[in-house]
Amino acid sequence: MHSALSALVLSLPLAAFARVHADSGLHRRHAAISHSRRNAYQLTDHYQGQTFFDGWDFFNQADPTSGLVNFLDQPSAAQAGLAYVQSDNTTVLAVDDTTQLSVGQNRNSVRITSKKSWNNGLFIADFFAMPHGCSVWPAFWMVSSTAEWPNGGEIDIIEGVNNQPSNQITLHSGTGCLLNSTAATLNSSITNIHCESSPGDDSGCSYGLSDPRSFGHEFNMQAGGVYALEWQDSGMNFWFFSRDEIPADVTSANPDPTTWGTPVAIFPNTACDMASHFFNQSLVIDTTLCGDWAGPAYSTSGCPGTCQEAVADPTNFNVAQWKVNYISVYQ
Ligand SMILES: *[C@@H]1O[C@H](CO)[C@@H](O)[C@H](O)[C@H]1NC(C)=O
Ligand SMILES: *[C@@H]1O[C@H](CO)[C@@H](O)[C@H](O)[C@H]1NC(C)=O
Ligand SMILES: *[C@@H]1O[C@H](CO)[C@@H](O)[C@H](O)[C@H]1NC(C)=O
Ligand SMILES: *[C@@H]1O[C@H](CO)[C@@H](O)[C@H](O)[C@H]1NC(C)=O
Repeated sequence: MHSALSALVLSLPLAAFARVHADSGLHRRHAAISHSRRNAYQLTDHYQGQTFFDGWDFFNQADPTSGLVNFLDQPSAAQAGLAYVQSDNTTVLAVDDTTQLSVGQNRNSVRITSKKSWNNGLFIADFFAMPHGCSVWPAFWMVSSTAEWPNGGEIDIIEGVNNQPSNQITLHSGTGCLLNSTAATLNSSITNIHCESSPGDDSGCSYGLSDPRSFGHEFNMQAGGVYALEWQDSGMNFWFFSRDEIPADVTSANPDPTTWGTPVAIFPNTACDMASHFFNQSLVIDTTLCGDWAGPAYSTSGCPGTCQEAVADPTNFNVAQWKVNYISVYQ
């Protein structure tokens, strides 16, 4: 996400988090494994199924990135069929795809923020599907709940606009944080090394992934997959696994990133002091339309007409849905 996010910096009570699926069998297995493996990750937060929304707040103010959306509060979103959990435990976050609007009107959508925030950890998100299409700007990201943006940082794990062919992973920071581009050659290309951002200069430092399965239509054609972020003081590593390539240790909730091969994005702490630039990060899932990124990018996206015209037509949003299997956090 871009632009002035200070308006949404909320004071989040750290104690008010939901621990879904506190499965005792799982924890016994973790306890056993920690004897045989050094630094084994322990599951601390698991968001899935009928209690998914207990761990999240619905953001219902004007989109800070100027999108043509009305973000609904939880009762309104539930009533409109835009935020619900299916009987198979899939959580759905959708954009209204039934209402014909006048050109220039805002379309209903949702944006949720985790009640909890973190300073490190292993974040694993399994999505069956993600929103995409003309005017659509989906994002799964993290942002500081206590500092005024961009101080405290922003971590964009899944993000793109319009018909973008693959995912972009981006960090935004305060002054004095660079992506050390000499550190690795990955299956991605670095698009910018300056993480420092401001409302007027908010591209951040980023990688464009090469795998078309990492985003949008092709992501959904594979029934989605898993994004993983390992965030330590030494830096951040990101992996993407398409549905049929998800490591067994991820599925069995016993993840060991040292076995996953080369990340798709690495942000080392050599040219950026990670601990001082990124802290108290809450998770966010949202879909906005047009706004500060999808809007200006629209004319070169191959999409017809104008971005506002696309928003008015509900048939453009039939697949503008996040389908979440689960999000897990390990420490
Ligand atoms: C959904 O989750 C609940 C709670 O963990 C579980 O009891 C139920 O079996 C799950 N349903 C399906 C279809 O997986
Ligand atoms: C890069 O991506 C291609 C296509 O997805 C894959 O076959 C290859 O193994 C990847 N290489 C690395 C180093 O991950
Ligand atoms: C970038 O990383 C390389 C290799 O790890 C290291 O030698 C170099 O000092 C780093 N550059 C900066 C500016 O920290
Ligand atoms: C992070 O959040 C905690 C709890 O709200 C707060 O005490 C602390 O000052 C915050 N850290 C920074 C660096 O702002």
